[in-house]
Amino acid sequence: MTVPAGRTVPAAVPAGRPLPAHPADVAASAAPASKAVGRAGADLDELIRRDPGAHRVLTGDRPTGPLHLGHYFGTLQNRVRLQRLGVEMFVVVADYQVITDRDIADRLAEHSESLVLDYLAAGLDPDRATIFAHSAVPALNQLLLPFLSLVSVAELGRNPTVKDEIAHSSQSAVNGLMFTYPVHQAADILFCKANVVPVGQDQLPHLEVARTVARRFNERYPHPDGTGVFPRPEALLSAAPLLLGTDGGKMSKSRGNAVRLSADADTTARLIRGAKTDSDRRITYDPATRPEVSSLVLLAALCQDRAPEPVADEIGDGGAAALKRTVTEAVNEHFAPMRARRAELAADRGYIRQVLREGAERANAVAEATLAEVRTVMGSV
Ligand code: TRP
Repeated sequence: MTVPAGRTVPAAVPAGRPLPAHPADVAASAAPASKAVGRAGADLDELIRRDPGAHRVLTGDRPTGPLHLGHYFGTLQNRVRLQRLGVEMFVVVADYQVITDRDIADRLAEHSESLVLDYLAAGLDPDRATIFAHSAVPALNQLLLPFLSLVSVAELGRNPTVKDEIAHSSQSAVNGLMFTYPVHQAADILFCKANVVPVGQDQLPHLEVARTVARRFNERYPHPDGTGVFPRPEALLSAAPLLLGTDGGKMSKSRGNAVRLSADADTTARLIRGAKTDSDRRITYDPATRPEVSSLVLLAALCQDRAPEPVADEIGDGGAAALKRTVTEAVNEHFAPMRARRAELAADRGYIRQVLREGAERANAVAEATLAEVRTVMGSV
């Protein structure tokens, strides 16, 4: 894999200038920030479709384990869609974020590589998307220092997502990175001047931090020509379908209740056979009163790219067994090509490492260009 001509590294940051003002950002700057951030994805999505070239996406995941079907329908599918629209995309393997709530980043290389395999299997194209790890991009990490000076300790302590993670952490003490990683995440977003960040609801407080850091940095260190170094990124809130785990709880890497993207057909069948349902024989789609059955119906519908109601109608009085057969077939059919591709790629670890190396090269060039601008406006050259 090589970087194709015309897609050379430093071009990713337009000649030391911020991206042109984002129309949505101009509109949003008049509104209260929290509202701007919480805007439904629909109008931003429309702007992206109209002008993909004016947008740059940054997104990422912690390398803590293989991705599952919830990740696929919640985020991966949307990333591939954005890539197909021609939006420039950066994807961070957030290895430094792993050690926020655990002492040891267990099997980090293995998890990072498996994350990249999931990305590529799902359809991210490393020639078009820059896939890189935090720890391979020093200039990104260096942005953390000036950024930290722009946020008060009280603000750090108020972040609801961080509070929630602290409440669920098994660590006896909260480490400093747990408090500050949202600012590090701002560096993830701002180093490449991304103006679109596809996220779920839980990441909105972090996006708010990135917007605050961008605004305060631009105010404190104005560019001589009056523009700011950083754009204000916007959340592209995914209409993520809520898929439950096989135990009826939230689908999660760590709860053992998820079907992995990489699972084989037999494992998928076994997991779905064991999924929680209810005793009503007639299958309906009614998420409020029948969450477990409806989640299975939804999963089949997503795989078949249909609405859930007709899927439920077709199963009708077939009961849980027929529902599970339908879901298993739908999942296995939909994911078969991705799983085959994943297996093929997994046989060549050298290639996966090369993807990360070339991604890091591009990300480094972009991060160094941004850091140079930061140094200039701060007068630290
Ligand atoms: N915090 C995100 C998560 O836990 C991962 C992440 C790291 C991220 N950096 C990011 C997401 C930047 C979006 C943008 O899933």
